[in-house]
Amino acid sequence: MIRIVPARGAGIERAAEIMRAGGIVAFPTETVYGLGADATQPKAVARVFEAKGRPSFNPLIAHVEDIEAAMREALLSPQARRLAEAFWPAPLTLVAPIAPGATVCELARAGLQSVAVRVPAHPAALALIRAVGRPIAAPSANISGRVSPVTALHVVDDLNGKIELVLEGGRAAAGLESTIVSFCSPAPVLLRPGAISRADIEQALGDFLRSPLSADVLAPGMTQAHYAPKATLRLDALEAEEGEAVLDYNGRLARFSPPGALMLDLSPSGDPTEAAANLFSHLRELDRRGAKNIAVAPIPPRGLGEAINDRLRRAATPRRS
Ligand code: TXA
Ligand code: MG
Repeated sequence: MIRIVPARGAGIERAAEIMRAGGIVAFPTETVYGLGADATQPKAVARVFEAKGRPSFNPLIAHVEDIEAAMREALLSPQARRLAEAFWPAPLTLVAPIAPGATVCELARAGLQSVAVRVPAHPAALALIRAVGRPIAAPSANISGRVSPVTALHVVDDLNGKIELVLEGGRAAAGLESTIVSFCSPAPVLLRPGAISRADIEQALGDFLRSPLSADVLAPGMTQAHYAPKATLRLDALEAEEGEAVLDYNGRLARFSPPGALMLDLSPSGDPTEAAANLFSHLRELDRRGAKNIAVAPIPPRGLGEAINDRLRRAATPRRS
């Protein structure tokens, strides 16, 4: 059973404890309710994707307490900083290249080299971020494909049985998601219209917002290349060949690989949530260790398996450079 707790003192403390321990909690923001995880813990972020039931990994917004915290995660250009100073805390999300030493994990960024940051205006959201002491990765707290929740009861309708706690902080004032502006290319791009108008942003910027390419509109998270390993991937392998590295699942390929093969297991116990948490770091580690060709074990499509397979298929597709 999900518990609804007022978004004040003890409730916020409890929520922060759950999140620091790797759990997920729904909380109010001024736009819509968010489903939050400690953005630095891939396992916790995997739980968010699992609860929402998305068949692919979408990059999540990292909610931070102030501009300084945002700048520890994202390289904000002078223009981006001008917007941050003009609006935050506000329903405005800025997408920018990741900063060196950023703490938001790769799964929360869905493998992108950019990160979305936002300082929310809801006092309870800010109090929660401070109590957790880390950025909170949070998409809207609805099942994938349903409308975003603006009350705690909407969250319960969607996520009862999937999360243990929702902080109740009244009806979300905006009822519309944050406006997303990307600073990843020379000119600022409006990735998603939202609670702050284009006109207000353009006025603060003293510049026009460009429109994303049509492909970006279909999938805002796809504006930049996701991480793909340098190595080529051979999916659904039933055995590894001589010279291939192995990305295993549940120990399937261990007995069917040449002795001494470079091998990492996404989840020795066969837990798709654990596998999702390890996906990007394992691919990166195999790259780092010089893998040229990687045999990937079949990943069962249950739970996050579908999203993992989607990501692996993209990584296996030859890239145009
Ligand atoms: O108002 C809001 O923004 C709410 C509250 C909870 O803060 N959050 C929200 O999150 O709407 P979500 O996950 O439903 O939408 C986030 C959007 C997605 O469309 C995602 O593709 C985009 O942000 N996004 C996140 N990181 C990105 C990145 N690095 N590059 C491009 N788009 C990104
Ligand atoms: Mg959403």
